[in-house]
Amino acid sequence: MLLPFARLATATVLALLVGGGSVAASRHCDGETGVCYSETKVGVAPITWRVAIPALDAGPFDILLQVVAPRTVGWAGIAWGGGMLYNPLSVGWPNGDTSVPASRFAHAHFQPDIYDPAVHTRLRGSSANATHWTLTTVCRGCSQWVSNGGARTTLDPGATAASFAFAASPTPPLDPADTWSPFEIHTEHGLFTMDLRAAQSQNFEEWIELLSL
Ligand code: HEM
Ligand SMILES: *[C@@H]1O[C@H](CO)[C@@H](O)[C@H](O)[C@H]1NC(C)=O
Repeated sequence: MLLPFARLATATVLALLVGGGSVAASRHCDGETGVCYSETKVGVAPITWRVAIPALDAGPFDILLQVVAPRTVGWAGIAWGGGMLYNPLSVGWPNGDTSVPASRFAHAHFQPDIYDPAVHTRLRGSSANATHWTLTTVCRGCSQWVSNGGARTTLDPGATAASFAFAASPTPPLDPADTWSPFEIHTEHGLFTMDLRAAQSQNFEEWIELLSL
């Protein structure tokens, strides 16, 4: 337990030194499981986005994603290519005392399509209470995709400032129990970066097993 906390303390100090805007990037280790993530808090809520990936030199790779949002957030999503269009979207929302991951891909600024090439598995640490919801999910198929025009894009696991986008709305999806449920347009969206190099861990596969339901 000492090591994760030492890392967390170091990262927090760095974030304070370079921070100052509404976006705070750092590292977060879960005290209970020992799982460590790169973390960014962004938006008005704010929403916390956490990512862990395997230790490797090149993609594609699976992505462990954790989203923590106030209960006032009806749905929130991350766009792995940094914009709404032509990249995998990992969306999530609360449902009862847990949360639901959803896979989407948008070809226009309209209700995104269901996206089968990216499979999201809900993991331990997905919960919802009176004030917050947390989604913990592993995405297989979010780090590589075919853009408009047919070019293949692969995330660089060594990127220290990978560009992502997020969107969120206070309105819950039509049927929160259903991962394929339609939902309404966001009330906020924005860009943020994450340190994927710092998100790497040799323990990745072990963590996925540990978190599997
Ligand atoms: C019903 C669902 C959705 C609708 C109707 C919708 C519609 C729109 C519209 C009309 C814009 C403005 C375009 C402009 O300013 O030119 C926009 C922008 C944006 N949306 Fe969505 N959207 C939806 C879902 C999502 C989701 C799920 C995400 C991310 C996970 C997302 C991320 C963004 C981002 C980052 C922008 C900024 C411009 C861009 O990157 O294209 N949207 N959306
Ligand atoms: C509610 O959930 C959030 C995160 O999902 C957690 O930080 C908080 O401690 C929980 N509150 C209670 C009262 O359990």
